Amino acid sequence: MKVFLRSFGCQMNKLDTNLVVNSFLQAGFKLTQVLAQADVVLVNTCSVRNHAEERVLSLLGLLKHIKKTNPELVVAVFGCMAQRLKEDLLSHEAVNIVCGPLQIPELVNLVNKAVGQKTKSTAVSEDIRHKSSQQQSQQLDDFEYSYDSAEDNLPAQAYVRVMRGCDKFCSYCVVPYVRGPEASRPPEKIIAQIKKLADAGIKQVTLLGQTVNSYHYEDFSFADLLYEVSKITDIEWIKFVTCYPKNFDERIFKAMIDLPKVCRYLHIPAQSGSDKILKAMNRGYTCDQYLRIIDKAREIVPDIAIAGDFIVGFPGETQEDFQKSVELIQKAQYKNCFIFKYSPRPGTRADDKLADDVPIEIKKQRNIELLAVQGKISAELNKSFIGRTVKVLVEGASGKSHLDNIDKKQHPQLIGRTSGDCIVVFDGPADLAGRFVDVNIKRASALTLFGRSTD
Ligand code: 5AD
Ligand code: SF4
Repeated sequence: MKVFLRSFGCQMNKLDTNLVVNSFLQAGFKLTQVLAQADVVLVNTCSVRNHAEERVLSLLGLLKHIKKTNPELVVAVFGCMAQRLKEDLLSHEAVNIVCGPLQIPELVNLVNKAVGQKTKSTAVSEDIRHKSSQQQSQQLDDFEYSYDSAEDNLPAQAYVRVMRGCDKFCSYCVVPYVRGPEASRPPEKIIAQIKKLADAGIKQVTLLGQTVNSYHYEDFSFADLLYEVSKITDIEWIKFVTCYPKNFDERIFKAMIDLPKVCRYLHIPAQSGSDKILKAMNRGYTCDQYLRIIDKAREIVPDIAIAGDFIVGFPGETQEDFQKSVELIQKAQYKNCFIFKYSPRPGTRADDKLADDVPIEIKKQRNIELLAVQGKISAELNKSFIGRTVKVLVEGASGKSHLDNIDKKQHPQLIGRTSGDCIVVFDGPADLAGRFVDVNIKRASALTLFGRSTD
């Protein structure tokens, strides 16, 4: 049986996709890149913005046509959109299986049952805000441990989930309704998993959670976890995403200073610079409180790289509110920012209570403007790297071109990242992928540093 796969969405989804794929491979399925050859199509879906759902629906439209000539094809839709739409998605002509993010360990069995039967089935959480049973958490943990792999990502890099779900209920966000309540994984399981990955050649782990700084297992905190992960021999870099700008435990910053393995990089979304909008977003902090956290971060870790997220065009966002986001970006001096146009999500408080009253043209304009403001800051910060030598974990061949092409005939261009998440392009042999290399920076753009290996 051949499986064709499409995955939409964030890092959390990519991790789920990898686990699912490995569970299918172990069960004897083979992967195919050719849709026409597939017996099974797996689609991991994202609901965070409407656009992501539209892309899934357009793929399902295509699959509906394919099924006319191949009625035996089994289509399984899983992830956030599956949990959000439940049976409604099952009524789509193309779909056989709808499986929520907390039910992915069941997916192989569901598909096996559907093969040759043309049946439809659903496995989703009926009450997603209900805390998972001990048995379900255990099943998810075992699934995670059994099916993660050192081969799934960039060479020598792995993602490890430290917590599931979210309890913050930002008024615009669908995550708490599709990934359920916040639940931290037991530290011993996380450590065992990272040890296993380290034995298989992993050098960098990225700890994943919607709000990693809220991680706590009994009285074991996220800072404690950083100290423990740091003890694992062969792991050289530890990164983590994403942080929530409230109740920030300063011991996390202290860990960055104490522990050379913990990368000095913080992704800490502000979402807006206007207190009025932050309140309407239910973020639970003011712009000043946010700035105080990043000031504290820089006081303890002077060379920390900070990245942010912003939403433009949230209901009620006036030009004045927007200007406050511009000012916050200028004050925060982010390394980079991810900027999103507000997208109303059914079932969220913002969608229930607030009209989506900022016209799309204004959202687009504000998006472009924030990107331009950030672009200038990124370009300036990147310029300060010129002449410095940075350590880079090499990802592989790059599409981008280098400072000059003297070596180009001999070597492909390589791309890698620094511990502070800067992208670096330089000449070198392909077998450096997965290795650490010192690169002297010669040139910089807003997005990329270009340099020459000093080895
Ligand atoms: N509309 C636009 N952006 C959103 N995000 C989350 N929900 C929405 C939404 N409804 C953004 C936030 C978050 C990032 C992952 O996606 O900025 O930090
Ligand atoms: Fe969504 Fe807010 Fe939770 Fe992030 S913290 S996942 S934006 S509800």
